[in-house]
Amino acid sequence: MLLDAAARAATFAYAPYSHFPVGAAVLTSSGQLFTGCNVENAAFGETICAERNAVTTMVAAGFREIDTVAVVGGDEPCWPCGACRQVLAEFGCRRVVVTGPDGPLEVDFTDLLPHSFGGPRDLSLHLGDT
Ligand code: THU
Repeated sequence: MLLDAAARAATFAYAPYSHFPVGAAVLTSSGQLFTGCNVENAAFGETICAERNAVTTMVAAGFREIDTVAVVGGDEPCWPCGACRQVLAEFGCRRVVVTGPDGPLEVDFTDLLPHSFGGPRDLSLHLGDT
């Protein structure tokens, strides 16, 4: 079901340069669903991935704890890029689901980004709580 939501979101992708539409669906730990697609730009570096689009939408709606992110893009499993992994770590992502050749592939987030530098708690050791 999360993968279906991600696939739907991919239909809204703006990907005129790569022609690689991606959709992501974020499920919060309290059960809300947020989706995003990739949004490219003629200045390529300004492209926003589907996952970060979904995460910023989640935060703007007042939620900060990610349980699962599902990603759909292309014919191969579309694992989140490095930048998106860091952003997902910030909000405690627990699990990642992508489409595989024989159905959904599901991994623990820590398998994708072990020993992550993550979250306000790490920084507060140095900066104090702000
Ligand atoms: N992309 C995503 O949206 N998420 C990923 O996990 C991988 C890459 C997008 C960025 C760019 O618009 C296109 O896919 C090709 O890299």
